[in-house]
Amino acid sequence: MIRAEDLTKRYADGTLALQGVTVVIRPGEMVGLLGPSGAGKTTFLRLLYGALQPTAGRLEVLGNPMGQLSPAALRRLRRRVAVISQSHHVIPNLSVLHNVLIGRLGHLSTGRSLLALARTPPEEVQRAYRALARVGLAEELFTRAEALSGGQQQRVAVARALVQGASLILADEPVASVDVRTAETVLEVLRELHQQGKTVVLSLHQVDFALAYCTRLLGLNGGRLVYDGPPKEIEGLEIYRTEEEVRDDHGRAPAFERTVFEPRV
Ligand SMILES: Nc1ncnc2c1ncn2[C@@H]1O[C@H](COP(=O)(O)OP(=O)(O)OP(=O)(O)O)[C@@H](O)[C@H]1O
Ligand SMILES: [Mg+2]
Repeated sequence: MIRAEDLTKRYADGTLALQGVTVVIRPGEMVGLLGPSGAGKTTFLRLLYGALQPTAGRLEVLGNPMGQLSPAALRRLRRRVAVISQSHHVIPNLSVLHNVLIGRLGHLSTGRSLLALARTPPEEVQRAYRALARVGLAEELFTRAEALSGGQQQRVAVARALVQGASLILADEPVASVDVRTAETVLEVLRELHQQGKTVVLSLHQVDFALAYCTRLLGLNGGRLVYDGPPKEIEGLEIYRTEEEVRDDHGRAPAFERTVFEPRV
């Protein structure tokens, strides 16, 4: 599904955001990316859907060599990948319904998509409605997407992922800007997609959610992969600490760490 070998990304300003990441993600996994701010989580996800090109190393997504794809091949790949990003969740001046339906039209140009939306078959509208109801947005069907809060817009993106029929779902902090109950709904929807055999890769800041929902965790720190394994073994690991903190601290974990790694009760 995803094969990264020595994957490295350096931004134009010289920032080394990802360094030598080697990982294989198999179909049907639900993988959580953990790590402090700036660790490289968003960079990794953006490389996976071809929004960024690798600087060095190799990356294969659904059998496609990333960084060497023609625009047409990249468009074909993106039909099979649903993206829930940290920003740009929705097309602001379209209704919530149309934002969800557009997930089915990834293969068309924007102009053609708009035409297709105008004559959407009723069963497609039903599907979109069910997906929106699933994420608690049934009431907002005809609201213009720009009138929703950030967290609601992100849930529209989750509903879009539900109807898109993608085989790979990439979600960048899908629960960062929602309350705990909504976060659980969103994660349950992602788990449902995973249980249908889809591969889900999501970044998270809350370790307790990662422990409860993911089948495997990847820990990033300073652009390096510092943990790859089952959720239960990550507890107590210090992926959130800078090298300096580890050196300074002589074995006493700072309060922040204790909160972050508190197991779910
Ligand atoms: N477009 C860019 N140009 C230059 N540097 C960038 C760019 N985007 C990100 N970075 C840098 O690359 C590193 C990794 O950033 P990234 O956004 O991948 O981290 P992250 O783990 O997603 O963090 P957060 O938890 O805050 O979202 C950081 O040092 C960041 O400042
Ligand atoms: Mg990020």
